[in-house]
Amino acid sequence: MSIINKAAAIGGGVIGAGWVARLLLNGIDVSIFDPDPEASRKVGEVMKGARRAYKQMLPGGLPKEGKLTFAKTIAEAVADADFIQESVPERLDLKHKVLAEIDAHAPANAIVGSSTSGIKPTDMQVAMKKHPERLVVGHPFNPVYLLPLVEIVGGEQTFPEAIEVAKELYASIGMKPVVVRKEIEAFVGDRLLEAAWREALWLVKDGICNVEELDDIMRYSFGLRWAQMGMFQVYRVAGGEAGMRHFMAQFGPCLKWPWTKLMDVPEFNDELVDLIATQSDEQAHGLSIRELEKIRDDNLVAIMDALSKQNKGKGWGAGALHKDYTRQLAKLAAKKASAKVTAKPAKKAAKPAKAAKPAKAVKVEKPAKAVKVEKPAKAVKAEKPKKKSGKKKG
Ligand SMILES: NC(=O)c1ccc[n+]([C@@H]2O[C@H](COP(=O)([O-])OP(=O)(O)OC[C@H]3O[C@@H](n4cnc5c(N)ncnc54)[C@H](O)[C@@H]3O)[C@@H](O)[C@H]2O)c1
Repeated sequence: MSIINKAAAIGGGVIGAGWVARLLLNGIDVSIFDPDPEASRKVGEVMKGARRAYKQMLPGGLPKEGKLTFAKTIAEAVADADFIQESVPERLDLKHKVLAEIDAHAPANAIVGSSTSGIKPTDMQVAMKKHPERLVVGHPFNPVYLLPLVEIVGGEQTFPEAIEVAKELYASIGMKPVVVRKEIEAFVGDRLLEAAWREALWLVKDGICNVEELDDIMRYSFGLRWAQMGMFQVYRVAGGEAGMRHFMAQFGPCLKWPWTKLMDVPEFNDELVDLIATQSDEQAHGLSIRELEKIRDDNLVAIMDALSKQNKGKGWGAGALHKDYTRQLAKLAAKKASAKVTAKPAKKAAKPAKAAKPAKAVKVEKPAKAVKVEKPAKAVKAEKPKKKSGKKKG
């Protein structure tokens, strides 16, 4: 059950709308601010896709959705939120402006998560003059309403308690929080993706393969392996009975062979963009982005569902979490159903069901308190640089 009482989403593009969908489908009320006049339509499109995907996960019915409100200002959006997720474009000056505003108007005990793909939280929280200690990076993966991982990263001023609370908050909406041990640009996921992306651009630019062939090479082979075991466990198995040591002995020396151009970046110019975009258009065979999103979502639900049945029915990897998450949502949906039955005689009697909400709010007290600890604040602040000496590395 979620421990978030009221959420705010600042930015409702690809990622912000994905957060909104996950939160609403967990029955949480969300207030959103996005200056784009098209924001409501765009969020609506993402909600449609998310509902469609969740219906496949929950054939017995969805929980009662939270209420979505479009706010006119950031101040209005965050005023009574206990969890705020910032998802504005990836520019440090904009992140500063938006985070300063969030910080000025949000309740002191609210947790602020940033969706940034690679900016260090230390570099963002300098703009938060009141409570920088409650900022964490909560880096998700698209589509946020289906992919469970969220990388949590704290900055130099982030309280350890805030990280703990953030872990609980994200986990309560079906996510898998992984705390990144040292602050570094692009964290872990995007470090890996960026390396693969650079190499892929080289391979296409040099005419070794086109974008479709490269995607086939991934999705018919190691892409399937990665979804269920990741890199290291897959290689452990690839080492045969002797496991990882044998694998490393065999392939370690290759690191010095001319296999990779990872240290160089292909020149980013119109020619490269045209080459990739033209091949990508051909690969799509006329399917629109929304159609491709549907295919992606169906496949992701099917993969997680298949993984949820593995490991003697306990589920494996993302499948084990998927199993728990769908159970949690089904329980929430059942609550809605029983509330409806009780309410049947008179429509207005449905209200008591809503009154169940304070239960959530009570739970939230715990996180709230943890972050509130005003006194230790200074002590923690003073100690922090010592603790996180590795930080400058990134
Ligand atoms: N797209 C991805 O795959 C992905 C994945 C993980 C994280 N991220 C990160 O998420 C964040 C958002 O990326 P996106 O892909 O959703 O971008 P996007 O361009 O799709 O959406 C950004 C939204 O922010 C809105 N916006 C602009 N200025 C604003 C302001 N002052 N206040 C509120 N909203 C404002 C825009 O109108 C737009 O709707 C970035 O930090 C990005 O690095 C992106």
